Amino acid sequence: MKILVINGSPKREKSDTLHLTHAFLDGMNSVHENEIRYINVAEKHIEYCLGDLSCMKNGGKCVHNDDMAQILGDILTSDMLLFSFPLYGFGVPAPLKALLDRTLPLGSLAMRKVGDRYEHVEQADFSHLRYAVISGCGFPNAQHNFDALRLQFKLRFPNGVFMLTVSEAPMFSAIEAAAVTAPFLELVRHAGREYAEFGIISDELAEKLAVPMIPEETYAAICNGNA
Ligand SMILES: Cc1cc2nc3c(=O)[nH]c(=O)nc-3n(C[C@H](O)[C@H](O)[C@H](O)COP(=O)(O)O)c2cc1C
Repeated sequence: MKILVINGSPKREKSDTLHLTHAFLDGMNSVHENEIRYINVAEKHIEYCLGDLSCMKNGGKCVHNDDMAQILGDILTSDMLLFSFPLYGFGVPAPLKALLDRTLPLGSLAMRKVGDRYEHVEQADFSHLRYAVISGCGFPNAQHNFDALRLQFKLRFPNGVFMLTVSEAPMFSAIEAAAVTAPFLELVRHAGREYAEFGIISDELAEKLAVPMIPEETYAAICNGNA
């Protein structure tokens, strides 16, 4: 399978979240080898969408002449998009939001009712594409931290999107936290294996992945410098 990893962390390869993404992909590759390509969004020239919808009437031609044409080409030649990014303001970081907005040329102005909502009709057939999101955040396991993000991606990809959202993510880049991050990353590898085999992960594994690596009070105390 051709997997396009869209790394939306402005920290690029130094991303905390990327540790999770690499472990997940290791797990997937242990079932069968995949062809993996990476886009570092922060390195790309992506103008903001101007919002005049001309691309949707214009056979997919955007008025901007930047890196987005190549990225759309990469999307169209992939089997799976894996969005890897940190939680920013309870949502996606701005450069990745700009990229997502600029996928507009893949749709058309026509809309259809699906269940109780409407969606745009695509200009090409994307039914083969699978979507996954891996996102890390800086707060401890606070309730509702990822609610808005999860809903956004669920609405955006109504045919299904696998989502792994993880709190306390800065620990993945802290070598002194390896005693707790290594076992967690092993669980993420396991998730990648299950996802590759079944397209979903078991409830039992999802429950384990929802448990914070260290108690939230301890994590907050470390962050606050009074552990
Ligand atoms: C501009 C900005 C906004 C952030 N917003 C949130 C947030 O809403 N919730 C949260 O838990 N962490 C938030 N964080 C913390 C990051 O999600 C966290 O540091 C994460 O580990 C960074 O991941 P990365 O290294 O993959 O970029 C924010 C960080 C920045 C710089």
